Amino acid sequence: VSGARAADRESPRATRAELVDLLAHAGAEAYVSGAAMARRLGISRNAVWKHVESLRGEGWEIETTRSRGYRLRARPDALDEAAVRAHLGPGRIGRRLVCVESTRSTNDDAAERARGGEPEGTVVIAEAQTAGRGRLGRSWVSVRGLNLYLSVILRPAIVPAAAPQLSLVAGLAAAGAIEAEGLEARIKWPNDVLVGGRKACGILTELEAEADRVGFVVVGIGVNLNSTLAHFPSELHAKATSLYLAGGRRVERARFAARLLAQLEERYERFLAAGFAALAQEWNARSALTGRSVRITGVASESVWGTCTGIDTDGALLLERDGVSQRMLAGDVTIVGGYE
Ligand code: BTN
Repeated sequence: VSGARAADRESPRATRAELVDLLAHAGAEAYVSGAAMARRLGISRNAVWKHVESLRGEGWEIETTRSRGYRLRARPDALDEAAVRAHLGPGRIGRRLVCVESTRSTNDDAAERARGGEPEGTVVIAEAQTAGRGRLGRSWVSVRGLNLYLSVILRPAIVPAAAPQLSLVAGLAAAGAIEAEGLEARIKWPNDVLVGGRKACGILTELEAEADRVGFVVVGIGVNLNSTLAHFPSELHAKATSLYLAGGRRVERARFAARLLAQLEERYERFLAAGFAALAQEWNARSALTGRSVRITGVASESVWGTCTGIDTDGALLLERDGVSQRMLAGDVTIVGGYE
């Protein structure tokens, strides 16, 4: 018995993954013979056939011809323009979708396109990021093919000081899309979306502006959809989650992406029409911090402690300590005795 055969008995999943890799590597135009696959995987041709049948049952389009073998036509969870558009209604966000296999950061791609004049509503989506960025100079784990990494170009007529509100708007949209998957989502100010107390989604909003006018805003949203703990570095195991980990069900990425964009569109329109005040109540209803003891580490100031009482109509976090109320405009929040 070869090592591969033993591995197959122990882990049919690993063999399946290898089989998919073999087909994917050959490309959409090439066939791989059943005999070659059996040899490479160390299993019988009949076992190859069984794996292919089970993949087909899950939506993989694998073509077979008796003489040439197998060819992979489509994956079940493609994240290309056609797949996302199939779930997306008309609207300004997503009117143009740019789907790429890999990039450094979709925020960088989107900003570059915005500088080149790309209109509002253009969305850049990547299967993988090689230098995904988080807030405050952190990085964002961006494994290929499992999650969602997208950036939206917006050109709102607002003053630069109001731009952080767009992060809050995007947080609401992400929470809404996650709830549509049947999971409860809470928002940790300013824009982490938590599921089961752990972070499933992060938002990085960047802008290019003159002193009194926003040129464009890039709202970057990363949602951990199907990653497992093994995809996160160990220091994140207690803090991070994915929708799959929280709900036990794989999420169809294209459908989720379209829902997220539709949710963003709806909130963004309300924001443009009536300002963040129109969304503050909905935001407060989803706040993970209200009533909790928190510590805010300011970007350029000392830490502030207090009990969170919600957010103001302009998006500022409200803290109360010894009967004195304080407004925080920016900073990093730690829940005292809880999720960091
Ligand atoms: C954070 O929580 O610190 C923000 C994370 C933002 C990650 C997303 S993934 C898509 C977009 N591209 C990036 O490089 N970052 C954002």
